Amino acid sequence: MNFWHDIEKPIIGLSPMDGVTDASFRLVAARHGRPDLCMTEFTSVEAICCGADGFVRDFAYGECERPVLAQIYGRTPEAFYQVAHVVCELGFDGLDINMGCPAKNVANKGCGAGLILNPRLAVTLIRAARRGIEDWAAGQRLEDIGLAPDVLERVRSMCHGQRWEEERRTIPLSVKTRVGYDRVQVDEWIPVLLDERPAALSVHGRTLKQMYKGLADWDAIARVVELARGTGILVLGNGDLKSMADVVERVRRTGVDGVLLGRGAMGNPWVFRDKQWAKDALARGTEFDAATPEVSQEERTRVLLEHSRHFEGLWGERRFPAMRKHLAWYCKGFRGAAQWRARMVQARNAAEVAHIVRAG
Ligand SMILES: Cc1cc2nc3c(=O)[nH]c(=O)nc-3n(C[C@H](O)[C@H](O)[C@H](O)COP(=O)(O)O)c2cc1C
Repeated sequence: MNFWHDIEKPIIGLSPMDGVTDASFRLVAARHGRPDLCMTEFTSVEAICCGADGFVRDFAYGECERPVLAQIYGRTPEAFYQVAHVVCELGFDGLDINMGCPAKNVANKGCGAGLILNPRLAVTLIRAARRGIEDWAAGQRLEDIGLAPDVLERVRSMCHGQRWEEERRTIPLSVKTRVGYDRVQVDEWIPVLLDERPAALSVHGRTLKQMYKGLADWDAIARVVELARGTGILVLGNGDLKSMADVVERVRRTGVDGVLLGRGAMGNPWVFRDKQWAKDALARGTEFDAATPEVSQEERTRVLLEHSRHFEGLWGERRFPAMRKHLAWYCKGFRGAAQWRARMVQARNAAEVAHIVRAG
């Protein structure tokens, strides 16, 4: 089953952000914004296969996020093969391979955007992941692919008693990348990926060298659309979209099949709220007007509390400091926001957040 084709175009999804779009934020986004799809934060296949337990957190998700994709990165084909089985077993709707991360500790090891310099390995990794998906769908058991016993045990503990004896299916594979390494290399790099026939290609309009600086190059993304034309492979554009008005404008100009929004959703899970109006405006060729009013301070506060409680429930008080950046992002755009922010970023748990809110 391929969920990609069931979503009304343009697809408007939440871009994965390590340290930000965890299961807790994705739940809040799903409830208050409803993006068309979500992805996990990127997760190292090598770390999973070495027995690191971080993936239990990374691969946690809730039903309301569906369709939800697991995003992985790495450079070892065997690990891609094994982790593809894990992703299928855990019930994800799709598998996305990160070939866009510019962080030194990722790209310098030849992973993430580092793969733009090594297209042969990129192809090998895609094929290994696809073989993993297909073998799993054909009935291969996790016990028989050489996973370490403790990894197997962790996966089993996450499966919530799911059984796959009857209904195994292949899930679609997609790739998220950038427009080049140190310059726009769309004409060399993108055809390599298209030849592997992913279901979708998400393209951030910056090079690795740009990191997050400058502006995303939407002309380069438009060129990707041209290259993919007639292949049936969906192209999702990404970079600097902050509102549904931005989405309408970029989709109109480039013809992308969809978009991903990342930083625009920080402290703003509501950014997706008007997506149906955006789709309607695009379908009818009419002007887009934001349909819903600005988010009130009351709603901000309610969601900030909901997010805090959910975060603590999922990850425990010990990890609460990781919630503080979200609190700071929520505290914007209303009178007294700066004072709240200063107190929120010291909160040690959800009860303290509630206390700050009550104190006003
Ligand atoms: C803090 C942070 C973490 C990110 N982590 C990931 C990641 O895990 N996987 C990924 O594919 N992209 C990651 N990205 C890139 C975003 O998904 C997105 O491509 C980029 O931010 C551009 O889109 P935007 O302008 O809408 O934010 C990250 C970006 C940021 C800012």
